[in-house]
Amino acid sequence: MSRSDTLRGLGKSSAVIAPSLLKCNYAQLERTLGDLEQAGMEVLHLDVMDGHFVPNLSYGPMVIESLRKVCGAAFDAHLMISDPKKYLKDYISAGCDGITIHVEAVPEPGELLEQIRGAGLVSGLALNPGTPVERIQPFLQACDYILVMSVEPGFGGQKFMPVALEKLRRVRELVSPGTLVGVDGGIGPQTIGEAYQAGANLFVVGSALFDLSDYAEGMRQLLEPLPSWSEITSDVHHCADASRMHGV
Ligand code: DX5
Ligand code: ZN
Repeated sequence: MSRSDTLRGLGKSSAVIAPSLLKCNYAQLERTLGDLEQAGMEVLHLDVMDGHFVPNLSYGPMVIESLRKVCGAAFDAHLMISDPKKYLKDYISAGCDGITIHVEAVPEPGELLEQIRGAGLVSGLALNPGTPVERIQPFLQACDYILVMSVEPGFGGQKFMPVALEKLRRVRELVSPGTLVGVDGGIGPQTIGEAYQAGANLFVVGSALFDLSDYAEGMRQLLEPLPSWSEITSDVHHCADASRMHGV
């Protein structure tokens, strides 16, 4: 999928749920992805961890390459790794549609973000709960997507950190209407509403989906607290500027 197709697809709705592949049953990944697609998944959030940038180890490009063969959703690799530049090509050739790097791992991410875009992928920049929004401000032009962490990266099942709300509001003020603003960590039916109101339009969800057996029910529970589409199409902040998107 090209970068513009991915952005156009994500820009259509005001709230995208991105299941996060971390706390899942790795013995039945293909079936899990099929069930998630049945439940309406558009984006799969792939939590890549190197055991160095975060105190946990998950999976890498080889696993993603295999999953690419059995899943049609857009793949966004959330690289919680210390040296994303070194491995960028591996994630691109594994079939990712977007790559999100951490400003804490790459203090000057502009060049790497342009490289991701240049490869035809959606460029994402993530910031941890303790990192001020000002740290990413110089690089916003190179970002299609900002990911505000609402937990310390490394594990699923943590509690939502409300510090993310003010950061979401600040990010939403700074970015252009077509930029995706994501939130990641502790998102469930109880927290998605305030995250949406604060300006997020992409919601990474792990436990609130994977702790259920019925993913369609989980998706419904997550979208229920959000205003219906008609109420918010007038709210320019949340609807990607379709004409601008087409120009992407
Ligand atoms: C944490 C990951 C998150 C996490 C989300 O480092 O980036 O994507 O898996 O899981 P929940 O929704 O359970 O907090
Ligand atoms: Zn993540």
